[in-house]
Amino acid sequence: MGGKLVWLRVVWVSVLLWGSCWGKFVVEKNSLKVTSPDSLKGIYECAIGNFGVPQYGGTMVGIVAYPKANRKGCQGFDNFDISYKSKPGGFPTFLLVDRGDCYFTAKAWNAQNAGAAAVLVADNKAEPLITMDTPEEDDNKADYLQNITIPSALISKSFGDSLKKAIENGDMVSVNLDWRESLPHPDDRVEYEFWTNSNDECGPKCDSQIQFVKNFKGAAQILERKGYTQFTPHYITWYCPEAFLLSKQCKSQCINHGRYCAPDPEQDFSKGYDGKDVVVQNLRQVCLFKVANESGKPWLWWDYVTDFAIRCPMSDKKYTKECAEEVIKSLGIDLKKINQCMGDPDADEENAVLKAEQDAQIGKDSRGDVTILPTLVINNRQYRGKLDKAAVLKAICAGFQETTEPAVCLSEDIETNECRENNGGCWQDKAANITACKDTFRGRICECPVVEGVKFVGDGYTHCEASGSGRCEINNGGCWKKSHEGKTYSACVDEGCKCPLGFKGDGVDKCEDVDECKEKTACQCSGCKCKNTWGSYECSCGDDLLYIKEHDTCISKKPSTEVGWSFLWVIFFGLVIAGVGAYAIYKYRIRSYMDSEIRAIMAQYMPLDNQEAQNHIHHGEI
Ligand SMILES: *[C@@H]1O[C@H](CO)[C@@H](O)[C@H](O)[C@H]1NC(C)=O
Ligand SMILES: *[C@@H]1O[C@H](CO)[C@@H](O)[C@H](O)[C@H]1NC(C)=O
Ligand SMILES: *[C@@H]1O[C@H](CO)[C@@H](O)[C@H](O)[C@H]1NC(C)=O
Repeated sequence: MGGKLVWLRVVWVSVLLWGSCWGKFVVEKNSLKVTSPDSLKGIYECAIGNFGVPQYGGTMVGIVAYPKANRKGCQGFDNFDISYKSKPGGFPTFLLVDRGDCYFTAKAWNAQNAGAAAVLVADNKAEPLITMDTPEEDDNKADYLQNITIPSALISKSFGDSLKKAIENGDMVSVNLDWRESLPHPDDRVEYEFWTNSNDECGPKCDSQIQFVKNFKGAAQILERKGYTQFTPHYITWYCPEAFLLSKQCKSQCINHGRYCAPDPEQDFSKGYDGKDVVVQNLRQVCLFKVANESGKPWLWWDYVTDFAIRCPMSDKKYTKECAEEVIKSLGIDLKKINQCMGDPDADEENAVLKAEQDAQIGKDSRGDVTILPTLVINNRQYRGKLDKAAVLKAICAGFQETTEPAVCLSEDIETNECRENNGGCWQDKAANITACKDTFRGRICECPVVEGVKFVGDGYTHCEASGSGRCEINNGGCWKKSHEGKTYSACVDEGCKCPLGFKGDGVDKCEDVDECKEKTACQCSGCKCKNTWGSYECSCGDDLLYIKEHDTCISKKPSTEVGWSFLWVIFFGLVIAGVGAYAIYKYRIRSYMDSEIRAIMAQYMPLDNQEAQNHIHHGEI
């Protein structure tokens, strides 16, 4: 048994070494911008950890804290009575810890439990940045890995030292973590690849792969059917070094005479399934994708892989050709074509499909070699972070050119909920429950909203106001309005807020009654009595005088009655003249009617000039 394991090590290590001579592993990075203190201002690189949830497409602002105790973050911070929970309105804390003594994931988990919003790990030696990965070991504490939700970043030793120095000086170190350029987002289609394995018995890594496929299937199929994405699954295989070609080990782990191999699922050649069973199932899955893709339904791969994992598990001894073919038939995919694509695993020749997979493993352009299983590649960059539906969807969404994201990218699943705290720093009208804060997967945006068809305009941060018709319907257009003694006055007018007549003020918060009497703007006639009211005033003139408000003047009551009588006289004479006129018209019409009667009677006895002309035209038409 021990001998076998040594052999395994030798083979895999040598194969991996071979690979690393040719390609490269690329460390995926994001940027960290220090905004204060001035001495540190600038943009620094950091490496995205392979766990937690990097905020692909977004940014995060926080204040860096370096603990006084537990500096490596290997123990829970509650043991030291340290908490980094942010208070309402306070900035989130980015916890800086030192590398060493425990897993990166343990540091992140402890930081998260202490309330930190992100963890920065300072390297302990001067070297190029590395990718912080999850532990390989299958320990029973693995379930905390999936619960890490804060992003993590590794920073260089020298940058870490400068940060610590500034913090010890008492400076407030404020930074902005930025993942916006961590993924290219050139157009409105995202290409992504999932490097996986059909092996279902390799511990937590295999479990998390199949769990991810099951959870992500729905979103993946929607994106693919609507043409938002182009997905391709990939499978890693190794080859057997020539010296071992004829060994029992290579025979049990490889197909096509040592060309395509996979490790034994149980790491024991004498029992259960062999490596070559895994290679064959992987090959079947590649071929299934090819055939489904050719028939225009690439998304069937997701159905097949989930169904196969459920119906044909190794543990039930159903990881077989027969079981796989049952699943293929149930999905209505052409089995003959798949078998054709798979070729003969025993033949001493290349298999075109698996050869292409091996070639694709080696990195090109910006994408490094694929060496971690599973690996997700989005727009030719390796995804870092946990394999979780929301985290991956967020990353894929960040791969779309801005504003071309499909609706699924704006769903509740992946929004950042930054509006919950302090309204995201955006404008809001609490009384009317209107806010400019909108959560998206890219983080929150402050944008004046549209409420019930009324558009708000403004900068979204300090100011938004309703515009257009109907604006006064909502919250009175943000203008002053008051009711008092049965009267209501509003400052909302089409062009903005303006205090109504009788009031003065800004029209928004305040309109005050104008005391017309005191300010002598009205009712200044001699002998007049002025009384201020809310929004207006009352004015009374002396005896026999009438107050005309429009002209702010008093007039005698008598002349106004004479005017009234003369007006009636005018109407009376008007009616008489109209009556006489009507009689005259009547007389005239009677006469002309009689004239035409006489002409008609006469026409019966003698043809009249124009009558004849009319008859001609008539005949002509018939
Ligand atoms: C992780 O989260 C799950 C579900 O929310 C929970 O049941 C489990 O106890 C958590 N594990 C740890 C270590 O907190
Ligand atoms: C899947 O089909 C599309 C369009 O037909 C094609 O561009 C793409 O290369 C195919 N993918 C594979 C892996 O065959
Ligand atoms: C404010 O509006 C949101 C949605 O528009 C609603 O969910 C919430 O309950 C409202 N809050 C209050 C206090 O009315």
